[in-house]
Amino acid sequence: MTGRKHDVVVLGSGLAGLRAAIEAARNPESDVAIVSKVQLMRSHSVCAEGGTAAVMQPDEGDSFELHAWDTVRGADFLCDQDVVKRFVEEVPKEILLLEHWGIPWSRRSDGRIAQRPFGGHSYNRAVFAADKTGFAEMQTLYDTLLKYANVSRYDECYVSSILIEDNSFCGVTAWNLTSGEFILIQGKALIIATGGACRMFGFTTYSLTATGDGLAMAYRAGLPIKDLEFVQFHPTGLVPSGILITEAARGEGGYLLNNEGKRFMEKYAPSKMEVAPRDIISRAEITEIEEGRGFPGPEGLDYIHIDLRHLGADKINERLPMIREVAMRFNFIDPIYEPIPVRPAAHYFMGGIHTDINGATPMQGIWAAGEVACVSLHGANRLGSNSTAECLVWGKITGEEAAKYAAKHKESPPFKETRLKEEEARVFTRFSSKGKESAYRLRKELQRIMDSQVGVFRTGSGLKEALDRIQEIRQRLPDIKVTDRSRTYNTDLLAALEVENLVDLAQIIVTGALARTESRGAHSRRDFPNRNDDDWLVHTLAHYTPEGPRLDYIPVTITMWQPVERKY
Ligand code: FUM
Repeated sequence: MTGRKHDVVVLGSGLAGLRAAIEAARNPESDVAIVSKVQLMRSHSVCAEGGTAAVMQPDEGDSFELHAWDTVRGADFLCDQDVVKRFVEEVPKEILLLEHWGIPWSRRSDGRIAQRPFGGHSYNRAVFAADKTGFAEMQTLYDTLLKYANVSRYDECYVSSILIEDNSFCGVTAWNLTSGEFILIQGKALIIATGGACRMFGFTTYSLTATGDGLAMAYRAGLPIKDLEFVQFHPTGLVPSGILITEAARGEGGYLLNNEGKRFMEKYAPSKMEVAPRDIISRAEITEIEEGRGFPGPEGLDYIHIDLRHLGADKINERLPMIREVAMRFNFIDPIYEPIPVRPAAHYFMGGIHTDINGATPMQGIWAAGEVACVSLHGANRLGSNSTAECLVWGKITGEEAAKYAAKHKESPPFKETRLKEEEARVFTRFSSKGKESAYRLRKELQRIMDSQVGVFRTGSGLKEALDRIQEIRQRLPDIKVTDRSRTYNTDLLAALEVENLVDLAQIIVTGALARTESRGAHSRRDFPNRNDDDWLVHTLAHYTPEGPRLDYIPVTITMWQPVERKY
């Protein structure tokens, strides 16, 4: 296998990627490829737990307008409101489509699809499959995908670069981890759906594989990256592993308690309590810990408790079986009888590749969907359960758009034959490195600085220190020594490539965060504690330069609600 040609190439096999591939493949003329560095069902989307937000009960009181308002307010007004409107109108169709494709949604006793409360939503809006929603969605999409003969799969292929000629996509280069070959996959259209990069943080809910490869590659290929300074911290990462304790645990009635046994959210968001938006709860938890009302944890991971005991065994077993299993297996705690230790964990990138409302990037023939993209739905803070929903909606939209585009273009644009050889040499050049640096040590150093200075609260001096450290780590990257010299399943070389991606993206985050002298949503600056709409109601765009990101700004689209004070 040295060269392949397809109409639509989908990079990434999570929820957005699978949904996009199915939509593109529904056109029988379309030849679709999915390329992923993992086996398809090992994508991080299988870890999504709590639910997918959708207006399913307009007859019982929910409405598109309410979902849109919750999302806009949750975003601290940095989202594009035309995008939000389209989103809320499209999600219910996706929920029903998955239902028709066989997903086992949890149901009410009257047979209707059940919905549970989630943070920042003013209606019980999260559709779910117990606490394994992402897994059920992935499984359903995977089953559906198998019906299409016009889809080729490149599992366990690490894409190293996106090839662009004359401002148009023409293909990707990829290292096949199973065979060791270095291959070219040509295409007319590309959909990037590779997820976020929270593995640059040490304490995170992310899978080890979520290293932002697609995002970093897109940046280096010249695509602008939008609003990356907004990183979401999920209030309930299990201490010390970081494994997600779903927000559904609070949606189902769980309490957050400090070391005095008090439900401290009374002080911070009295009307929403444990189902306030994530940025607010994360700040509340860190404040409780800093003021001495937390519990001492290992390696500085002080924590608070989430208490489910009052829910009772039946509810925990029916609605939160995986949370119980995770707590028992990883912490030897049975939540039926004991509270669980948690603290804020890096969980989600609100920012990503800049796209328009159709998921199109400024580059001809390239779309982006899901967490890797920034269609400007989540603004400065995403509401829980809006992410799997976004993956479905923009998976569908981009799949449809990319297939239409491919049908209109006879051939993928020509590219320079030498590009494949050059890229292969770049990837494997580390085999001849005489350096002494370890990719794992550099990643650890990066994680330490991100955890300590780019967390729930930030300061100018901390961000400056982080930027200097990142720059210093960046300069050491060429000296990474790869001990394993094999071309198959070489996780040592893979770690070296991944850490480069993490470092580039960390630099964008910190540069954007340092420049943004205000607090908004998940970006909370102690030295600039207030939101500043006069100067900062704008999206950040970061453009690649070899010296580091160059920033500029574009306006936010406001069609329905002018910004007001955000209170819960
Ligand atoms: O807590 C959760 O189940 C996560 C959901 C989300 O990030 O949307």
